Amino acid sequence: MSKQTEKIKELVELRAKARLGGGEKAIEKQHERGKYTARERIDMLLDEGSFEEMDMFKLHRCTNFGMEKKQFLGDGVVTGSGTINGRLVYVFAQDFTVNGGSLSETMAQKICKVMDMAMKMGAPCIGINDSGGARIQEGINALGGYAEIFQRNIMASGVIPQISGIFGPCAGGAVYSPALTDFTLMTEGTSYMFLTGPKVVKTVTGEDVSQEDLGGASVHSTKSGVTHFTAPTEEEGIAIIKQLLSYIPQNNMEETPRVACNDPIDRMEDSLNEIIPDNPNKAYDMYEVIGAIVDNGEFFEIQKDYARNIIIGFARFNGQSVGIVANQPNCYAGVLDCNASRKGARFVRFCDSFNIPIVTLVDVPGFLPGTGQEYNAVILHGAKLLYAYGEATVPKVTVTLRKSYGGSHIVMSCKQLRGDLNYAWPSAEIAVMGASGAVAVLYAKGAKEAEDPQAFLKEKEEEYDKLFTNPYQAAKYGYIDDVIEPRNTRFRIIRALAQLKTKSLVNPAKKHGNIPL
Ligand code: HXC
Repeated sequence: MSKQTEKIKELVELRAKARLGGGEKAIEKQHERGKYTARERIDMLLDEGSFEEMDMFKLHRCTNFGMEKKQFLGDGVVTGSGTINGRLVYVFAQDFTVNGGSLSETMAQKICKVMDMAMKMGAPCIGINDSGGARIQEGINALGGYAEIFQRNIMASGVIPQISGIFGPCAGGAVYSPALTDFTLMTEGTSYMFLTGPKVVKTVTGEDVSQEDLGGASVHSTKSGVTHFTAPTEEEGIAIIKQLLSYIPQNNMEETPRVACNDPIDRMEDSLNEIIPDNPNKAYDMYEVIGAIVDNGEFFEIQKDYARNIIIGFARFNGQSVGIVANQPNCYAGVLDCNASRKGARFVRFCDSFNIPIVTLVDVPGFLPGTGQEYNAVILHGAKLLYAYGEATVPKVTVTLRKSYGGSHIVMSCKQLRGDLNYAWPSAEIAVMGASGAVAVLYAKGAKEAEDPQAFLKEKEEEYDKLFTNPYQAAKYGYIDDVIEPRNTRFRIIRALAQLKTKSLVNPAKKHGNIPL
């Protein structure tokens, strides 16, 4: 065997060894936990044969606690680039089979390298998390590694899309990298995220809580809103990430590629002419409206189980990707509260960062009153949504279906917040407040003096209704650009988006704004 052949043989053997991560036993254990390995996950995620691995031979440099004997090629993370549906992405997947995927200084360097490459190339960065946190033996060097990653997450924010898959443990400060990224997905039953685990919780607060109840997928998708998606299996989780990527551009200088549309752009939806109930206090399902107007009824929802009084997600109109924000009358009458405001605001900012037009469907009775909301700073959370809409320079199309009252009217992409095209259905009610509330304020004294206070108030309510409970007052002043027939909504939105294609609007130069946090 020639020297060169020998060297090539050595390379092949080293590669095979690296591909085994922590070894066959550890891989078996990983599978027994119901989890795939880092490499299997990358294979599922990327187009076949497209993975270009980097730093396969990198090793950690720690000698504390006998770590020099615990060496695995590539250490605890697999990194590189590849394509998803032909589009370039950068990826890192923590390898739980190597020291529990715990983060070493070396691992952080590998992760930072792909993040830097993603920024240079203007491509999304996807991280799969499955780690026991900072590698304890490395002490401050592991912490420093996290900080290096966080700094890059921050710099990449709004420049390239960043997506986190949580496919195992993600605890301690490690949670902050996913929290800084644009979208997080958690697998059900096998992943968890918390700052301090159940044992520390018990010591500090005396509270008994399981890992699942503290930071499982169901907690973060319903109670905290930390995760945007959950999936029962890793395969389904990876499919969601791929689908998500199809709606977003590669970076903040590009637009999402348009897809062919076989759904007629002028499709009339007669059902929408019947959808608003006669009784203004009766609900209807906003999902029906969304399904009726978007291409092929396909709506990719985000945070679907969190703050369900507002709906956010992606869809297409004539093949063009848009972000949809819609109040949901079916949940708490579509009222805006702290959580709904935060949910809407972050999504609006994502869309604006990445040149994705925003379509807003309005049916909102107002902000939720009460101490619960005020003590939790609904003022600041509502201001976030207001700020996000007012700051956004992407095309903004608003359709008011029914209620649009008071502050919530302003917040939901009104004309003066630089809404480009604001339409209303004939059923729209655009006013400072509802009739009964308004009359109670205006005619409290009159009612007391009236012979029949009930009849007096009813008459005044009818008067108010006639004057304000319609779209024409707003249209009269140009706050609504047109009143449209509900069944024609799809076509009007498509034509509006076509008109707004060349929109150019630039905010004043500044270091950055001071959004209420
Ligand atoms: C070094 C670690 C490790 C860690 C796990 N391992 N976590 N090694 N540093 N942080 C090793 C284990 O020693 C073991 O090695 C292998 O990984 C697999 O771990 P197991 O415990 O056998 O697996 P499992 O029973 O599934 O439990 C997984 C686990 C548990 C729940 C994640 O390992 C655990 O609690 N780890 C510690 C979590 C933690 O407190 N991390 C620090 C958080 S603070 P062998 O050789 O036996 O296979 C933090 C600060 C970050 O992260 C701050 C950033 C700002």
